[in-house]
Amino acid sequence: MMPTRSLMLRVLCALSSFNRALTAPAVAKDEIAPRVAIAVKLNSSASLARSVAGADIVEDLVHKALSNSGHSKREAQFNVLPLITTLTPDQISEMIERATKLTPSYKPGDFSSWFQVQFPQSAADEENPEITQLLSKLAVYQDVASVQHLGGRTKAPAIQPNDDPLFADQGYLTGDGVGIDAVYAWDFPGGDGAGTTFIDIERGWKLTHEDLVDKNITLLYGQNVQDRYGGNWPHGTAVLGELFMTDNTIGGVGIVPAAEAHVVGITRTVGGVPVENEPEAILDAANYLAPGDVMLLEMQTGDANGDLWPVEILDAQFDAISLATALGIIVIEPAANGGMDMDQPVLRPGDATAVAILNRSSPEFRDSGAVVVGAGSAALPRSRLPFSNFGSRVDVHSWGEGITTSSVVTSDFSNNDTYDEFSGTSGASPIVAGAALSIQGMVQANRGARLTPAEMRNLLTVGGTPSADPAADKIGVQPDLRALIDGGYLE
Ligand SMILES: *[C@@H]1O[C@H](CO)[C@@H](O)[C@H](O)[C@H]1NC(C)=O
Ligand SMILES: *[C@@H]1O[C@H](CO)[C@@H](O)[C@H](O)[C@H]1NC(C)=O
Ligand SMILES: *[C@@H]1O[C@H](CO)[C@@H](O)[C@H](O)[C@H]1NC(C)=O
Ligand SMILES: *[C@@H]1O[C@H](CO)[C@@H](O)[C@H](O)[C@H]1NC(C)=O
Repeated sequence: MMPTRSLMLRVLCALSSFNRALTAPAVAKDEIAPRVAIAVKLNSSASLARSVAGADIVEDLVHKALSNSGHSKREAQFNVLPLITTLTPDQISEMIERATKLTPSYKPGDFSSWFQVQFPQSAADEENPEITQLLSKLAVYQDVASVQHLGGRTKAPAIQPNDDPLFADQGYLTGDGVGIDAVYAWDFPGGDGAGTTFIDIERGWKLTHEDLVDKNITLLYGQNVQDRYGGNWPHGTAVLGELFMTDNTIGGVGIVPAAEAHVVGITRTVGGVPVENEPEAILDAANYLAPGDVMLLEMQTGDANGDLWPVEILDAQFDAISLATALGIIVIEPAANGGMDMDQPVLRPGDATAVAILNRSSPEFRDSGAVVVGAGSAALPRSRLPFSNFGSRVDVHSWGEGITTSSVVTSDFSNNDTYDEFSGTSGASPIVAGAALSIQGMVQANRGARLTPAEMRNLLTVGGTPSADPAADKIGVQPDLRALIDGGYLE
């Protein structure tokens, strides 16, 4: 007997949607969001013995298993397809033939006896006990040689932002070019940063803040200095809040609440005395992280005139950042709050002449591999904020003002928990770090592989939101996670 007409139609539909995906890179969310699916391998003698198409046998078996658990035939909705639809049986046979010649010990699998059964629910429901029950029911049938989940059991994150009272003030999480659209990314496996690791290098973290304490963020190296410049407690606390405020019913919610988070202190004790050693802090973090993880450098430095520049103008910091990026680590670096045109040569302390090391058109240009972040207004169209450095070296920007996040009360020295609006290229850079962690999480969930620093730096700009006057602002675009997801760039 031939496969049923409806089954053939279903196979044709699957093939034509595959072809569409090949020609049209922009895919709608519904086509990306994986469905619950299982794979069933028939006992090879089953179809031969009954002279029936394998897909029909699978259809009957699934109906039988579902009706055993109280479903009527009518309400059970699923599609049965061959497991492999992109290659013909002849193509697979040819591959197996080649493999057998190349690798004599190879034991060929029988792909023609494998089928996929697709259910309408999205894979977020895959923990569904009914599916587990279905697998165990099918496994005992004589005609079934093997049965399993299809696809990684990656669960879509389940962030519930609406019960976090400050969520409504966190415009940087939203879409339509206002924020990076973290909210959209949360619907995709890895979009909440799951499976990635992050280190913030700086000072002043209140790790026991009520909306951070559940993350168990640990200080890996150096010291947690709280009072530099008369009250730096809020700085690290605010940075961490943008990324990790807990999804509960207090405060706000971070961009990537599921990423693993640590901090490294710039201040350390060397030879018995406290010193600030940024290159050492960067190397400590680089040694801890794996390729594809993300580190954030919450630091800036002065030139010979005291104007602020990114730390990589200093050679030891440049060498440390270059080692980190060469190890595959994504480094996010604020452009600094000096209002400087970084395409102009910089006179570094101790140098006799200025050098154009951050001007991409200059022969003196040098690239650390870091993602350099500028600051723009919260409101659209987004203008460069006057304090933000700018120039061809700035890759991307994000909000440099009005960033609602966790903080501490310093005015009365109580250091009590509070929430406040953070700002600066220091405030813009964690938003970009969050975008990078979300992107890396999704790529990892989809591909089982991670982006390199160069790939990440490129992707952060794709489909992003330009500033009001890009040629004059020179702070790049603000990343847009929805554009990357819907554009198919993370598959
Ligand atoms: C495969 O199916 C045949 C016919 O239904 C049955 O006799 C045989 O025991 C099955 N083999 C296994 C390994 O279950
Ligand atoms: C934090 O630590 C507590 C106690 O060890 C543990 O129950 C909790 O799951 C941890 N949370 C995270 C996010 O690791
Ligand atoms: C950047 O470098 C190019 C090439 O040397 C030069 O023409 C340009 O004027 C520089 N930009 C600034 C702002 O100095
Ligand atoms: C800080 O917290 C302590 C303990 O909850 C409380 O007694 C004190 O009044 C708080 N101070 C301020 C200024 O809110």
